Order: sequence, then structure tokens, then C-alpha cells
Amino acid sequence: MILHHRPRLLRQSPAIRSLVAETSLSVNDFIAPLFVDEGEQVHTPIASMPGYFRNSLDITVKEVKELYSMGIKCVLLFVKAKDETKDNTGKEAWNKDGLMQRTVRAIKNTVPEMVVMTDVALDPYSIYGHDGIVKDGEIVNDETVEALVKMSLSHAEAGADFVAPSDMMDGRIGAIRKAFEENNYTKTGIMAYSAKYASCFYGPFRDALDSAPGFGDKKTYQMNYANRTEAVKEALLDVEEGADIVMVKPALSYLDIIREVKDAVRVPVSCYNISGEYAMIKAAAEKGWIDENKAILETLGSMKRAGADLIATYFARDAVRLLQG
Ligand code: PBG
Repeated sequence: MILHHRPRLLRQSPAIRSLVAETSLSVNDFIAPLFVDEGEQVHTPIASMPGYFRNSLDITVKEVKELYSMGIKCVLLFVKAKDETKDNTGKEAWNKDGLMQRTVRAIKNTVPEMVVMTDVALDPYSIYGHDGIVKDGEIVNDETVEALVKMSLSHAEAGADFVAPSDMMDGRIGAIRKAFEENNYTKTGIMAYSAKYASCFYGPFRDALDSAPGFGDKKTYQMNYANRTEAVKEALLDVEEGADIVMVKPALSYLDIIREVKDAVRVPVSCYNISGEYAMIKAAAEKGWIDENKAILETLGSMKRAGADLIATYFARDAVRLLQG
């Protein structure tokens, strides 16, 4: 055969393959999500997330030290609020001495270089397990935004580097940015969950935080997975309102959305490799049906290729270990 092109030429050795690799993963790509619980020496396994734990503050701080020493530079915090703090206003969310605020302070005191991001949404504090305030069976937008602003201000005051609103209410990014300016929090950034889809893959996370919605679903605020253009609209709105980083969530079934958003905005794009995506790999690997390590690198690699600059993933620690070879 006489061929003009022999594409296999560029795949013939590991050296050539790595020279022409279009994307690569590095320790700088990862955000490690952490679940924080009340108490001391609490290290609770999460049944649907094998190998992942809900830790009390003392253990969390130790873990953050370890993550930082591995080269991981960012953590995203979620807390499990006590049942007695839950109501329909979310007021525990801006308690100066709430678990989130204490955790942020403890981490910033011990590992000040670690970039601390905080989840902003009312679901851990809501008796209904919804991300916002409920009135007549509806999740009301504008009142919720007021609560999210208070929550964000209290995270900024505690020392968070970024707040990460995951609630999908309209106008919250602009309202939070304005409040930061008015209160002189000019060094606190916003990573907006801009395109967050109503997904069945959040199940294990809701087990971890005991935050499943008590009635209905989240489809009046989280997006319909049928839609693509709407994700771009949401991301552009958030950038206009002052988001520093925009996020697409989940990641694996939404690689097309990551690319679409990446091409549309001029800010870093993150994606969230969520709990159900973690659980699927863990479960299949446990059965011996896939190679866990290879699956971790291939799926995270696909998110990078899709256009993610940052990846929040429960596999952060494993990925760093695997990348170090
Ligand atoms: C809620 C929130 C969820 C996740 C992050 N923040 C779940 C939900 O919207 O019900 C999911 C993360 C994961 O599944 O790993 N504000």
C-alpha cells in the first residue's frame, strides 16, 4: 500500500504517544470534596461511596494537611448539619459558629495555603432537604437568594477563598458578588455551579449528608438533562453576574456540556465528577468487571479533554497517587 497518511505512526511508542498527547492530567487539576460531621474522632464510612468517609473536624484538618502535602491545592467543603438545627429558613447556614464556619477557620489556621471552597445551598439545613426556602410546596427564589447571600457572607468572614453556590436559584451570583463588594470581601471568589442538572447520580451524596429532598424533586431549579443551550445561557449569565469560575455538574454524562461551556466563556471551567460516578466505578471494580485505576484516569482524562480546567472529584487522592506512577 502507498499511503499519504499513516496516523499510527504517532502511536507507535510510549514516548511518541506522550509527546503528541493533546491533554494531560496533573495534581493542579483537582478539587477534593470533603464531608464534615460534628463530634470528635468521627470517621464514618458512606455505604454507597466505598472508601469515602464523613469526618469530624479534627480528622478533616489532618486530612487537609495530608492532601496539601500530596500537592492537592483545593478542597470543597460540605457539612452534615445536626437535625435539630434544620428548619425552613436555613438560619444555621450563617451561624458564625456553625460547623462550616468552624471548619473553614480551622483549615485556614492550620494549612493557610490550601484553597478552601464552601458549598452554598440550603439543603443540609432544610427540613425539606431542598436547596431553598419552601412556601406552599414551591422553592421560592428571591427569599432563598437573600439567605444564600447571608450564608456566603458568613463563609467569607470565616476565611473561605471561594464560595460555591450549588443551589441553581436565579440571580444569586450577582447578589453574592454585590454583597461581597459592599462588605469589602474583595478577596473571596465565586465558583458558580452554573449548569447543574437534575441528576439521579447525586444519590450517594444525599446518603452521605442525609439530604435527600423530603418531597418532590429538584427539577424546578436544577436543569433538564435534555438541554444544552440552556447550560450556555446559565454560564454566560453567571459570568456576567460576576462568577470567577463556572461549573458543569455532573461530569461524565455531560462532557458535551463542558465543551460547549468552555467554548462560550472566558473564565476557568470546572466540572464535578459526582458521587454516583464515583460509586459506579467502585461497584464495577469491586465485581472485577473493570480496572479501577485505569477507569479513574480515563474518566478524569475525558473531563480534561472535554474542556474542564478543574475537576472536583472523590478520586483526587487516587488520581495523584496514580499520576505519580
Ligand atoms: C446540593 C448538592 C448536591 C451535590 C452537591 N451539592 C446534591 C443535590 O443537588 O441534591 C452533589 C454532589 C455529588 O453527588 O457528589 N446543593
